[in-house]
Amino acid sequence: MKRIGILTAGGDTPALNATIHGAVMRANQLKVEIYGLIKGFNCLFNPRVPHVHLNPLYQEIPELDPTKGGTLIGSSRDFVDPEQKGVLDLVEARLRKLGIEGLICIGGDGTLNGLQPIAERLPTVLAPKTIDNDLGLNYPSEPDEWVRVKDASDRQGFHYRRAESSAVFDLDQIVNYATPGFATAVFVSASGVDRIRTTAESHRRIAIIEVMGRHSGYLALASAYGRPDIILVPEHAPDLEALAERVKHLYDLQKNVVIVCGEGIVDDQGRELGAETKSTDPAGNLVLSGAAEALRAKLIQMIGDRYFQLYRRGESARESIFIRKVGHTQRGGRPLLFDRFYAAQLGAKAVELLLEGRNNAVAVLQHNATKGFHVDGYDANRFRDRWGLIHARKMHPSLYDSKLLKPSKMGMDYLRPIFTDAIGEDDMEHTRRTLFAAGNLSQPYHSINTDVHKRIRYLEQEAP
Ligand code: F6P
Repeated sequence: MKRIGILTAGGDTPALNATIHGAVMRANQLKVEIYGLIKGFNCLFNPRVPHVHLNPLYQEIPELDPTKGGTLIGSSRDFVDPEQKGVLDLVEARLRKLGIEGLICIGGDGTLNGLQPIAERLPTVLAPKTIDNDLGLNYPSEPDEWVRVKDASDRQGFHYRRAESSAVFDLDQIVNYATPGFATAVFVSASGVDRIRTTAESHRRIAIIEVMGRHSGYLALASAYGRPDIILVPEHAPDLEALAERVKHLYDLQKNVVIVCGEGIVDDQGRELGAETKSTDPAGNLVLSGAAEALRAKLIQMIGDRYFQLYRRGESARESIFIRKVGHTQRGGRPLLFDRFYAAQLGAKAVELLLEGRNNAVAVLQHNATKGFHVDGYDANRFRDRWGLIHARKMHPSLYDSKLLKPSKMGMDYLRPIFTDAIGEDDMEHTRRTLFAAGNLSQPYHSINTDVHKRIRYLEQEAP
């Protein structure tokens, strides 16, 4: 294999450039060319196939900086529909015309789902990325536990449900223990929790901090490093009465409470809390509130104004309970040492998988007590259920203590290998040197896109 294509698909993470860098460094050693495909799969729907040669003369281009967040080749949420054979034919023809003999997709579960039809035409592998940490398996047999249930209300006529598990959960058996991007996102969310605390303490407030993660609670769980009082994860529906009592107990004691909630938390019927409360905006449009808003509304209603007025701690429940969403800051900025180091190894492994002829495979980050962290290759089909679908990994319930509403002992054992040394000295030093650099005030931001644009080449020139 002499030329490989690489693309980044789905929501960005801080570690994408590090993965690309790792792939390019390995390709340099193996004398393989790497073309970066611009804006994920979107590039392949464009007859001009905008691309960048990332290692001319087997040297990485200077714009490829593994310490910079985001992706220099851009990303999109476009995917290849396996039903659209005509589009697939075009995609294949374009890649071949570009001389690409193998493809690395850096993506999450959605990308892996869409990868199979391409892998049937061209050797294709996945290097994982996601801040949600939901690409992987809690144990190898997990995909077999999915069953389809007939559902007339569903567009497809069925929905998926998990059958009872007969597997013993063991941290050493996790497939893809952690994903590049996750550690940095947790760094941002835990720092946010830590910072909100002092405001909550000073003003006698109850803070609800919403973190991302879709339907997986890993980000919320690991935000425990910021020492919130309560963590709510999508995998466990909170008992709202008990929660309100707990909040009052903590508030009586310390005059402030900090709650972290995952954006996908559900009620006891499994309905997303965030999707439940609807209000109208000034134009009369329906606005779906998020999880934190919905939780706040419930706590306001259950705790009531009198509770706050009684001890002159606040005028009303509405004033005393506030929300903050950590939002997209979790996806941005400089990747931590942990993410950079393992992202690079996974990128390199993806190149090796292609050169070893491992089509339709995934580079995974494994961890066990004897070997620590190490990368490996895993067949993509082993992530699929019996109908061929890949499901986002949920946080295993044993990682969460549903009484204490915090990580369980096992949850702590899970988190420690990732986070104990996740921050490199240079990560903090970088902030010290760059954030308040005098030039930041006078010089405009120079976007990587401006530089990369000068390197973009096309398969076909536009008609004059
Ligand atoms: O999957 C990554 C993620 O950041 C989720 O945590 C979040 O729900 C979603 O993407 C946000 O997507 P968008 O940037 O398209 O709003």
